[in-house]
Amino acid sequence: MTLDDAITQSTATLKARAAGLSPQVAVLLGSGWGPVADKVQGAIDVPYKDLPAFPALGVGGHTGQVRLGRIGNQAVAVLAGRKHAYETGEADGMKGAIRTLAALGVKVLLQTNAAGSLDVGMRPGELMLITDHINTVQRSPLFNEPGDKRFIDMSAAYDPALRETALDAAATVGITLHEGVYAWCMGPQFETPAEIRMLRAFGAQAVGMSTVPETILARHAGLRVLALSMLTNMAAGMEAQTLSHAHTLATAQSGSARAVELVEAMLAAIHV
Ligand code: HPA
Repeated sequence: MTLDDAITQSTATLKARAAGLSPQVAVLLGSGWGPVADKVQGAIDVPYKDLPAFPALGVGGHTGQVRLGRIGNQAVAVLAGRKHAYETGEADGMKGAIRTLAALGVKVLLQTNAAGSLDVGMRPGELMLITDHINTVQRSPLFNEPGDKRFIDMSAAYDPALRETALDAAATVGITLHEGVYAWCMGPQFETPAEIRMLRAFGAQAVGMSTVPETILARHAGLRVLALSMLTNMAAGMEAQTLSHAHTLATAQSGSARAVELVEAMLAAIHV
């Protein structure tokens, strides 16, 4: 099956299963953001394995799923499960999924992730709005893409108007929302202290192993992007600690109630 056929089929399946619901906002859940899915009313779950454009995940027995429904008044498609570049070395694992969202009529992609903090003023458990990114990996999900459209403008990749909306929503519910630049490192190993010093000198405030490929794909597909990081640790060498995935997940869990509240407030404020 070609990718275009897989996208057509996946779009038809999502439309058929959630008849009458036309989500204009999609939320892509990163580590620690899973509880956002619990807020979906009238949830209809479609496993990725029923959607040929979506990636096979298989890590830890989770296959990934799209949950369709409403959070507050906003019709949403919530994606639980992301293919990371560190699994295969390829950055285009979410290409079919993002293009299916666009074909479904989604206009805004709200991305979430877990990240390390490079700024001593941003502490573990706190939240950061991504203002821009640094693709330190210098890989693209658009390799092999034909045509001139692949030369996409990335000068306002994280939508300025949506960022204002997000900051206002955070202020309204009284949640501290830092702002900063997210640096993508491939992983799966954490960074070295020398790499973190380099990234700080480059002007990054947070570091993580996801999000950037999906932002590129979303901009290419014409979606507006908003992205939130939950800071789960101070980056390597900044404090006496060893980094582990278990620690990342545990900190993410402790911050998730606030994260869920922020997403709800933001979704209520987004008028597409
Ligand atoms: N580095 C990379 N990815 C991460 C980190 C980190 O320190 N914390 C959570 N995800």
